[in-house]
Amino acid sequence: MMRYMLLGRRTGIRVSNLILGTGVLGKAGGYGAEPADVRAILRGYAEAGGNFIDTSDAYQQGQSEIAIGEFIAANRDDFVIASKYSRSAMPDPGVAALGAHRKAMVQSVEASLKRLETDRIDLYLVHMDDGVTPVEEIARGFDDLVRAGKILYGGFSNMPAWRISTAAATANLRGWAPIAAIQVEYSLLQRTTEHELLPMADELGLGVMAYSPLAGGLLTGKYRKGETGRVTSFKGSVAHEDAGGGATVIDAVLAVADETGATPGQVAIAWVMARGVHPIIGPRTHTQLEENLAAATLELSADQLRRLNEVSSVPGGYPHELLAVQRTKLMAAR
Ligand SMILES: NC(=O)c1ccc[n+]([C@@H]2O[C@H](COP(=O)([O-])OP(=O)(O)OC[C@H]3O[C@@H](n4cnc5c(N)ncnc54)[C@H](OP(=O)(O)O)[C@@H]3O)[C@@H](O)[C@H]2O)c1
Repeated sequence: MMRYMLLGRRTGIRVSNLILGTGVLGKAGGYGAEPADVRAILRGYAEAGGNFIDTSDAYQQGQSEIAIGEFIAANRDDFVIASKYSRSAMPDPGVAALGAHRKAMVQSVEASLKRLETDRIDLYLVHMDDGVTPVEEIARGFDDLVRAGKILYGGFSNMPAWRISTAAATANLRGWAPIAAIQVEYSLLQRTTEHELLPMADELGLGVMAYSPLAGGLLTGKYRKGETGRVTSFKGSVAHEDAGGGATVIDAVLAVADETGATPGQVAIAWVMARGVHPIIGPRTHTQLEENLAAATLELSADQLRRLNEVSSVPGGYPHELLAVQRTKLMAAR
């Protein structure tokens, strides 16, 4: 059922094509899964062949890491665990605990290792760029943690491409542990990721973990049916249908779902997979997990992908639009 892919070209590690996201495993953040679902989600994912679990110290104030630690204790080596720092697990963190700097990195990794009950975190990412920590400090910090055996690889989430590529190039030139992966928001309702971040990852061989493949649940189409969920009950940083062309995208997803017999959510996840990156699914219940896992084997036709691509496309922005015009002229001149 699950397929395995290399995590980018800078590691030899094989991970399942669907990553398990665990942002809602716990309730300390005010919204999340029931305890029985937490255990059932972890078990169900592993039983389906999933081996790549994403968490953060900030998820549910550490409860997500604790649940994962308990679950993987019996066979730790079978799982690739990604965690993140910079937002702190504390409900009311002091200012020095926040940010991407070395102090936050070092104290956060120690706390995450304890919660995860493990000696090492396989992939450790900056959760959110602070915009001020020099990227050399972060890349060198990762290298020190790799040498100390506390992490195996470093990566970045929510950071501009120019900061990440500077870090990756510096690590390469200095012989530090390479930057291995990025984690980015990417879905049919968030395609600006394609402007800089995805081409950068391709060029540098970074693995890509795509979060919010359902745009927080919108792409399941359930809100069209009057159902409730995170978008209505817990207004976080999720996209809303009336933002931009969201409604027409959801129309197209529903149409493709009708044709395939799959659910709209499965279509949305399959679309992300078809872009060659790893979707991070974020089920809140075991039933949602089962539905999302079935997307692992859903292959959309070329025509379905073309229609979804067209309806969800976003303007390329500068300089990409200018360059596209120039390239067309160059091709015509041949
Ligand atoms: N690096 C970052 O900054 C960052 C940010 C966000 C997420 N992430 C990671 O990515 C993971 C996934 O992100 P996400 O939770 O935003 O993903 P998502 O797949 O876009 O949204 C997941 C939410 O949609 C609803 N849902 C999921 N499957 C469903 C189904 N089959 N039917 C109906 N509703 C369904 C659930 O919410 P309700 O049932 O409550 O409606 C669920 O919590 C997170 O767990 C986390 O690991 C990382």
